[in-house]
Amino acid sequence: MEVGAGDRVGDLCAAPGGKTTAMAGSSGRPSLVVAGDVHETRARIVATNAARLGLPNVGVIVADGRRAPVRDAAFDRLLVDAPCSGLGALRRRPDARWRVGPRDVERLALLQRQLLEGALGCLRCGGTLVYSVCTMTASETVRIDEWLAERHPELVTLDQPDGPWARHGRGALLLPQAAGTDGMYVLRLCRRSGSHR
Ligand SMILES: C[S@@+](CC[C@H](N)C(=O)[O-])C[C@H]1O[C@@H](n2cnc3c(N)ncnc32)[C@H](O)[C@@H]1O
Repeated sequence: MEVGAGDRVGDLCAAPGGKTTAMAGSSGRPSLVVAGDVHETRARIVATNAARLGLPNVGVIVADGRRAPVRDAAFDRLLVDAPCSGLGALRRRPDARWRVGPRDVERLALLQRQLLEGALGCLRCGGTLVYSVCTMTASETVRIDEWLAERHPELVTLDQPDGPWARHGRGALLLPQAAGTDGMYVLRLCRRSGSHR
């Protein structure tokens, strides 16, 4: 996610902190990246990684992203890199094809919607939201977007990544064979000004 100098950034599913530290250390240094994870041991890994990289602009909280303890409209930019079925990473975790079933996908899709609903409470008008998952199931990608479009018409689409990424609804999908990476989906949205509830 692109961040700018002085931005207040929320990363609600942050551990182990790869994206938190990349954002906090990027050239357009945000003033603060609040990195939350529901699991205390995993949140500690984010804090350790941020300290190791000398990033004083990272604040770590142990919190359920569905009801993060931050004030309304606290953030200019929000990342929900959500827990997902992980089926885009089958080449690294091939056992997932036996572990993950349709019920898991539906349970995760519900959690993803709840996380997005929680996140939107903390996003200021004019702020941007990035939703990402390392999977390709319709329930966790385009269906999430369709649900967002219906429930949150105040969210407008931003440019999505191009190159090896392919358009997928309003978002973009990277297939594992396209660039030799994990498969993943990303959706970038902006909350229209004057639309905070
Ligand atoms: C895909 S990983 C995030 C990876 C991370 N963004 C990175 O780049 O290193 C999803 C994370 O969400 C956390 N998580 C699961 N349920 C959560 C919830 N209800 N609230 C906040 N975090 C949650 C998991 O513990 C896991 O660390």
